[in-house]
Amino acid sequence: MPLSRREFIKAVGGLALASLPPEAPAAGWCGADAHAAPLFVPRDRGFLGRLGLGEQALTLRAAALSARDSAPAGLTWGYVAQVGGRAYLNPTLVLHRDQRVRVDFVNGIDEPTIVHWHGLAVDSRNDGGGTTLAEPGGRYAYDFGARNRSSLYWYHPHPHGLTAGQVYRGMFGLVEITDEDESRLRAALDLVPGKSEIPLVLQDRRAEARYAATDADRMHGFLGENVLINGSACPYLDVETRIYRFRVLNASNARTYRLGWRTAAGTPVPFTLIGNDGGLFPAPRDCTDAYLASAERLDVLLDLSNLGVGDTLFLETRSFDPMHMEEATAAPPPDQAAPPVDHAAMGHTMPEVDHAAMGHAAPPADPHAQHAGHGGSFPEGTARALLQLRVRRKIAYRARVPAQLSSLPEIDLAQATERPLRLGFAKGRWRINDRVFAMGETPIEVKRNTVETWLIRNYFNSMPHAMHLHGFAFEVLERQTSPDPIAALKVDERGRLATDLGRKDTVLVWPGESVRVAIDFACPFPGDQTYMFHCHNLEHEDGGMMLGVKVS
Ligand code: C2O
Ligand code: CU
Ligand code: CU
Repeated sequence: MPLSRREFIKAVGGLALASLPPEAPAAGWCGADAHAAPLFVPRDRGFLGRLGLGEQALTLRAAALSARDSAPAGLTWGYVAQVGGRAYLNPTLVLHRDQRVRVDFVNGIDEPTIVHWHGLAVDSRNDGGGTTLAEPGGRYAYDFGARNRSSLYWYHPHPHGLTAGQVYRGMFGLVEITDEDESRLRAALDLVPGKSEIPLVLQDRRAEARYAATDADRMHGFLGENVLINGSACPYLDVETRIYRFRVLNASNARTYRLGWRTAAGTPVPFTLIGNDGGLFPAPRDCTDAYLASAERLDVLLDLSNLGVGDTLFLETRSFDPMHMEEATAAPPPDQAAPPVDHAAMGHTMPEVDHAAMGHAAPPADPHAQHAGHGGSFPEGTARALLQLRVRRKIAYRARVPAQLSSLPEIDLAQATERPLRLGFAKGRWRINDRVFAMGETPIEVKRNTVETWLIRNYFNSMPHAMHLHGFAFEVLERQTSPDPIAALKVDERGRLATDLGRKDTVLVWPGESVRVAIDFACPFPGDQTYMFHCHNLEHEDGGMMLGVKVS
């Protein structure tokens, strides 16, 4: 339910905000004995440094990192570039809509790899979906137009079977596309990248830099015990009393977050959601809670103008039921197989779930399963504060969020045909329509310049899957039979969440749920094009929960 401006002010301004001394983290923030450090904010060089691309081709090199690269702790591989005497690591590529992009990619690591431009509407030769690879020492030349709406996109490796490990080691970067809507918003709110507009790249990591996935990790997804934001552990950010824009990317291999803001005393603070994967919404939405699965993005405004110097706020991930119920399916002998899972009976309306009682211990075949399978000391769905904001300065700031942010027509469904897609587990593998990925096969064949609706249905005995399509943004039309905690967040009669509005390229489908999306396969590229449709839980993707899509 949208919160009014008045309720918002009540939540933020009317509180006797417990102004903690800056050294004393709130209980539960980053773990008891962690030390707070300033949030790393990308600049015009270095890690995630903003790099405006011009006519020149950019040479981007995948490389093993050394001390010279000043990488965040734990990252061992990355994308390096040298431009105009500046060194970049995982540069943020800043593009204008419709500009030409030329990237000469050099593979300097000792595994085959390829760069995929997540969310960009490019032809399959430039998509980097994994059908072509750069061998160690090899190169790949990209040349495409930035056709997308303004938004935050990203890039990461996509060599089938090796993606998860390469991303975990540190290979990921941002792509920012700007257009007129974007400039208007920045002008209206006086947003300056690096000052009042800040990307938050979330990645959960284990103490070990090495990627060593166990059987349980491959089943559930690889979860880390520390959440880094822009590479910073236990970060805080000094702020002024004004509106901030946070552009959030979940670059975690598998972890889903339930994000929200709260005061130091624990009172939830609403925020304004202005966009997601595919750019700005037509209008801003007040929001309290947002689930964010692997690869999804959120564009968030937070108004701090009613706070006082010394006040603190926290970005947190809240407690939720992760709904990992795959063991019911995975139990080996059929005679001992668990009965189908009933959401209501399992207490999915309850905030706390007893993992042990639900059989969340990983498959017995795996000796590491006890501790490694489900996030160790930080299971998915555990609450934790992730970032502290510390108000340092009172300033006069009067700007208001524009009522209209963009215009976005609904996809015309008059001629649309429907395609059913089932997500499930069988014979040890996560599957789409009972199939696993096979290189060269395209079980999904689409006619170019047609509109399709895809009904993506997840079994009850499953877990949430973050389904992603290359090359085309989609519109979420409806959610059906959503589990109670998800249904509780719906913003319309079609069961959609605030985070479903606008255009998406990745959508989280919960157990027992069906999500219908509309895709306009308008395709300006001559010849057959091959894209991927897959779960963005990277362990699931590497395990074959992916199908080729041919557009001809
Ligand atoms: Cu972000 Cu096919 O991936
Ligand atoms: Cu993608
Ligand atoms: Cu999955």
